[in-house]
Amino acid sequence: MDHWALALQANWGITAQLRRLDGEYDLNFLAGSGNGVGYVVKVMRPDCEEWLVALQIQAMDYIHAADPTLPSPRVIAAASGAKFLRLADETGVERLVWVIEELPGKCYALSAPKSAALIYEVGQVLGRAAKALKDFQHPQLDRDFKWNLMQAGWFAAELDCISDPVRKALLDRIHTEFEVIKPALDALPKQAIHNDANDYNILITGKLGAPTVSGLIDFGDMCSAPRICDLAIAAAYLVLDHPTPEIALAALVAGYQTVYPLTAQEIDLLWPLLRARLAVSVVNSTMMATENPADPYVTISQAPAWDFLESHDLHGGLLSARLRAACALPVVDGADRIMRWLETERGSFAPLVGEDLSDTPMGSLSVESSTWPQNPLHMPLEEAARVGEEFEDNGRIWLGYYHEPRLIYTDKAFRKGPWKASDRRTVHLAVDAFAPAGTPMYAPLQGVVFVAENRDTHLDYGGVIILRHQTPQGDLFYTLYGHLDPEFLDRLKPGDVVKKGEKFCRLGDPTMNGGWAPHVHFQLALTTQGIEADWPGVGDPDEMYLWRAVCPNPAALLNLPDDKVRYYPTDKGEILDKRRAHFGGNLSLTYTDPIMLVRGWKHHLFDEWGRPYLDAYNNVPHVGHAHPRIQAVAADQLKRINSNTRYLHPAQTAFADKILSKLPETFQVCYFVNSGTEANELALRLARAHTGAKGMVTPDHGYHGNSTGAVAISAYKFNKPGGVGKADWVELVDVADDYRGAFRRDDPERAQKFADLIDPAISALKGRGHGLAGFIAETFPSVGGQIIPPQGYLAAVYQKIRAAGGVCIADEVQTGLGRLGEYYFGFEHQGAVPDIVVLGKPIGNGHPLGVVVTSKAIAESFDNGIEFFSTFGGSTLSCRIGKAVLDIVDDEGLQDNARLMGTQLIAELQTLEAKYRCVGDVRGMGLFVGLELIHSDGSEATEICSYIKNRMRDHRILIGSEGPKDNILKIRPPLTIESADVDMIVMVLDSILAEVEMGASDAPRDSL
Ligand SMILES: Cc1ncc(COP(=O)(O)O)c(C=O)c1O
Repeated sequence: MDHWALALQANWGITAQLRRLDGEYDLNFLAGSGNGVGYVVKVMRPDCEEWLVALQIQAMDYIHAADPTLPSPRVIAAASGAKFLRLADETGVERLVWVIEELPGKCYALSAPKSAALIYEVGQVLGRAAKALKDFQHPQLDRDFKWNLMQAGWFAAELDCISDPVRKALLDRIHTEFEVIKPALDALPKQAIHNDANDYNILITGKLGAPTVSGLIDFGDMCSAPRICDLAIAAAYLVLDHPTPEIALAALVAGYQTVYPLTAQEIDLLWPLLRARLAVSVVNSTMMATENPADPYVTISQAPAWDFLESHDLHGGLLSARLRAACALPVVDGADRIMRWLETERGSFAPLVGEDLSDTPMGSLSVESSTWPQNPLHMPLEEAARVGEEFEDNGRIWLGYYHEPRLIYTDKAFRKGPWKASDRRTVHLAVDAFAPAGTPMYAPLQGVVFVAENRDTHLDYGGVIILRHQTPQGDLFYTLYGHLDPEFLDRLKPGDVVKKGEKFCRLGDPTMNGGWAPHVHFQLALTTQGIEADWPGVGDPDEMYLWRAVCPNPAALLNLPDDKVRYYPTDKGEILDKRRAHFGGNLSLTYTDPIMLVRGWKHHLFDEWGRPYLDAYNNVPHVGHAHPRIQAVAADQLKRINSNTRYLHPAQTAFADKILSKLPETFQVCYFVNSGTEANELALRLARAHTGAKGMVTPDHGYHGNSTGAVAISAYKFNKPGGVGKADWVELVDVADDYRGAFRRDDPERAQKFADLIDPAISALKGRGHGLAGFIAETFPSVGGQIIPPQGYLAAVYQKIRAAGGVCIADEVQTGLGRLGEYYFGFEHQGAVPDIVVLGKPIGNGHPLGVVVTSKAIAESFDNGIEFFSTFGGSTLSCRIGKAVLDIVDDEGLQDNARLMGTQLIAELQTLEAKYRCVGDVRGMGLFVGLELIHSDGSEATEICSYIKNRMRDHRILIGSEGPKDNILKIRPPLTIESADVDMIVMVLDSILAEVEMGASDAPRDSL
């Protein structure tokens, strides 16, 4: 036992193994006592003064008395009762030694993901700690040292150590900013603060996907300072490497605010203090690296800090507005007064369009109510010029809503990332008045021209004016008028006064207003900080807490009640409640926080706020969501007739011909039904009619539908807990899964070996008195885990089934119609020809449609004098849609696209398989792809799969999960998916798998 372990035993009565932790000056040891309780033994540097240890101990005790549940370590007294001791080290030098409890978790720096919810919690813990320390006193708290942020200005005198002139200039600017805020900082009340809540001093614990703050440690830098310094220090580390620092800061401050509310003036200091702290850090590291080049600790945060300072020049004013808004404080001083004044003046403003708007109709262009634009990813000019034409009424004015999410903002400038499914700004921050081009506009109140410009790029404002106004209390605010005829440029320039009621501009036509149907975009802003002349006209739905506060509803200026022009999207929560009330509980919803989808286009979907999602899961919209040809065919047919198969119609035979053209010649007869389930039911009846027998063999974990008969052949249902169990006329065989099954990929005979399992199954049926009607299988098992059976498996199975008198049914619901890329149907890959093929899901692209195709001989056996009729099956509409789907697959080369995109996807996923231990297998063909997640022992990692599925959704990608243990990610997009979308899937998956690996390794922290 080493020296300090003996000392621990002798003085604290704790027997433990010690493990050295990194530290800047002191020796820290992790002491595992073996009974689940751990300690940290702190051996201070030889010259450490006693007050420093006493201060920390008193503060930690004080916190525990004030807030006993705050996650900070307790100090463990020695057997003598002393909280610290003076003990000699191996060399006889006296050291101060103390012991604290070890808290669970690992450093925030090493945890992932750093979600807004987690950062909010960090804010709460910091707020609690500061609140607990509010009245803590200690004579040494007024410390004069480099980490006291009030004294951060010291770095300016040391800038000579920075050789790069650009960096030096940057630090100089930060210093100037610091000097500007110094008087305000000095005027704030001081209190005891932790002063070093960096990302190694905050501990995080919890299961994958449910992290929580488990510790605030290391009180060694405590001092007396304004509490905002404490928060700014934490903030400085939390933003490093964060993809959206402003969102991280808003979460941090909002969390703090719930516990220990800050004033707006304190919040305004956060950004300059954060930068000052990073400046101190980089200057300090540079100085220490010069003095002590071998010590890696001193430069630990230098690179990310430089990187942040150099690349994130957030606008301090806008950031303050954001942080204030996140705390429900006025976005700028006076914002609340302005809103109160507007309220009192409502009704007295000059009418913007020269008339009272009280009875003016509203027209919604929202994601839910409108279908503008047809393609939410690209709106052509012709469409922009016609937007809202349905509300046009002989030139009568109509109004567009404030706070309305719209899909008409399709330009890349509205997107916040590189992908089509990247977050985008959708929510309208103004009220529109649609009126004929040339309609004059009158100033609602006096203002001074702040901006008068012509922004003539496509879908911009064209002519735009911003006026600055002043309330009688002296508060400034602004109004914007967009899409104008730029003729005003001859008359108006910045600084000109526009009088209340003055006719100061007029509406432009599409040739001059950015290309839009004529209207004015009328927006109010309470500050121009950070937006200057370039206001966002629409905001990100997830940032409306900010934009609603910066650009509030301008209804008062239009003499209208707020509610008339404010849009409210359907409340998802209400729909969820109603669904729970009126729908069966086992009608399941995907995701813990379900999504409400109201629009689709190709392989993208949009929720009620216009948030885009990449649909990498849904195979039903085979040729893409909202395909224009399908829309047209459906509308056209519904105008004509939608009848049934009792009457002749060429659409029926045209559809049948098209299907048969894709199948081997033995297939000659089609039956049209309404679903995959119904098709499988019918297939069973055909098999029985043809063989006169009932017994069916089917692979385990299969799914064929939700009716009594289909469930009976779906082990995925009948074998689940609560399932009806296996009927005696059904016999299961193992799925031909050569990754996890009995015969693996290294066995060249595996196809035959899996097929040989058919013989005992047939015998078992016979043993129970059942003849063999046939065999049914999803050609590639999907719910069983996206399995590609070894080639030749089905051919061998079919041979055995036929030899025993049975009929072979291929359920191609998941695999058919080109999804596999290389093959139109899955059975082609197997070198097998079934007797009955079942089609469903994709064949109607969302329209309910199922098809059974078989041979003349089987059809004749079924034709026993009893009519077969499915009322809606084979309706005129269904036949037209089904045929259109198959035509589109051909015309748009979608099978080929499935092959190309599938090849890219599988190859890129294989790089992830090589990179991450938890990816056990990548398998698939075309756009039928599975990725199996495993633990290090190879067992099924269900929780990782669920975590990834939910995290992908956070990143706006929809995928599914499957398999008996639900550990296989299922990627199965519409066949329209493009190369960049595949890249998005793989890049996002890569980042989430990295989170999993970080989260999975619960390695203890290695520094204190
Ligand atoms: C392979 C397979 N067969 C049949 C069905 C049943 O189809 P439906 O839901 O249209 O009745 C499904 C549905 O998921 C399926 O995946």
